[in-house]
Amino acid sequence: PEAGWTTTADAIVVGSGIAGLTAALELRTRVPHVLVVTKARLASGSTPWAQGGIAAALDPEDSPSAHLADTLVAGAGVCDEEAVEVLVTEGPGRVRELVDRGAVFDRDQDGGIALTREGGHHADRIAHAGGDATGAEISRALVAQIEAVRHDPGIEVIENALVLDVLTDARGAACGVTLHVRGEGSRDGVGRALAGAVILATGGIGQAFRSSTNPALATGDGVAAALRAGARVGDLEFVQFHPTVLWLGSGAKGQLPLISEAVRGEGAMLLDTDGVRFMPDEHPMAELAPRDVVAQAIVRRIAQTGSDHVLLDARHLGASFLRGRFPTITTRLLAEGIDLTEQPVPVAPAQHYHSGGVVTDTRGRTSVDGLYAVGEVACTGVHGANRLASNSLLEGLVFACRAADDVIARAGRGELRGSEPVDRPGPSALVTAAARSKVQSLASDGSGPIRDAAGLARAAHGLARIRTDAHRGVGAASTTGPQVAEWETTNVHQVASLLTLASATREETRGGHFRADFPSSDPAWARRVTLALDEDGVV
Ligand code: SIN
Repeated sequence: PEAGWTTTADAIVVGSGIAGLTAALELRTRVPHVLVVTKARLASGSTPWAQGGIAAALDPEDSPSAHLADTLVAGAGVCDEEAVEVLVTEGPGRVRELVDRGAVFDRDQDGGIALTREGGHHADRIAHAGGDATGAEISRALVAQIEAVRHDPGIEVIENALVLDVLTDARGAACGVTLHVRGEGSRDGVGRALAGAVILATGGIGQAFRSSTNPALATGDGVAAALRAGARVGDLEFVQFHPTVLWLGSGAKGQLPLISEAVRGEGAMLLDTDGVRFMPDEHPMAELAPRDVVAQAIVRRIAQTGSDHVLLDARHLGASFLRGRFPTITTRLLAEGIDLTEQPVPVAPAQHYHSGGVVTDTRGRTSVDGLYAVGEVACTGVHGANRLASNSLLEGLVFACRAADDVIARAGRGELRGSEPVDRPGPSALVTAAARSKVQSLASDGSGPIRDAAGLARAAHGLARIRTDAHRGVGAASTTGPQVAEWETTNVHQVASLLTLASATREETRGGHFRADFPSSDPAWARRVTLALDEDGVV
């Protein structure tokens, strides 16, 4: 679409979760003008929904090497070990900096940061805030820091701004973004923001699935825009399904309430609907096995019992402990008429996190010069086939700092001068917003917790038909202006299509990718699948 306005900056940060706000704060005093654009408000997005915590080897008895070992085991052979090393060694210092930035973590009796345990960890290394409101506290602290400097000439914030595309210059380097802004005065409508560096921190892809713990904003915008700009994406098939999402009936759709893994960390047990505890027979770590193991065990148990959910029983932990330690969860459950202290809670797995994304190196650089990706949108390689619990906030924090440092260093060497974008076509056709629930059903049925070739072929076929319909203009809205819901649906469709392709390509089972028709891991597949788009489609 035609841009009605243009603004310029030295660096643009797209997104305002832990990764985006950290990058912006790091950049602020060291490049002259940082522009932060975010899809809704500064405090929206996925970070405020994070419950359990942020993992880091903060206990003197713990060590980065033990954290590294647990991360590699969960990642099931496809982690990038160099990236994991960076994550676990820089993590503790970055968490302490977060405290310096005002984030208030829960404390133990000695005044140190209280640490708990979650699935796949062999040590207590999960720092938490407000009991089970860690992301909300981190978001509060970072937003407060941005608000405090918001009127500085060095930083500009545009809210309610959907990124449409990443702009590239004649060399193919990123040089800005096109945005659709809703109601920001002179920045209203479609415009362009130009800069020598663009940092994508747009979060996840939950809206590609029927049900997810992600908010409605998580439409895969960063992955789709990066693909259209020529960037490589990787590990798309590794979608994490959280084992314990509140089961609200088989028709429940959209964002569903999470029951943090920390509830199992404190001792809650999983029972089937006959009241039988089943995880000790599945894995030596029982309820605290890596997340993919627990989610797949639940799916199998549900099938065996002919039910549609299992039960999470925390009653033995005591009412006052549960209310104090998990205030968000107990209150949210009470709103659904469920008392965590008195009854087992119905739960089932739902989409939670995307381990894959835009491929980056350990400085956050993508394959497109000047384009960076940090946080959930990125594929740094730290998660491999399955992210270890509470490593996501940590990844956003650590790699946002590294990306900002790289931008500052390159800008200092004069390597990131702004340049003129060349005309780019954007998506070849927008998918009608009415197709979104069909896309979600196809992705959920094809690339859910248990996959096979037939289901993936059905999903691929259905998604291809939606694309053909889009090209024929079937169901297209009559207006010619920018259509936010259509752009989001196009992004969701693009992500779902490539995710389906990646899932069909990996003919084995590994981490979060379970193929019923290839139920074993194959050493030949202990590597990352990466994809990119060219004019003819996927390469
Ligand atoms: C949770 O609290 O269970 C979520 C933590 C995570 O996704 O790492």
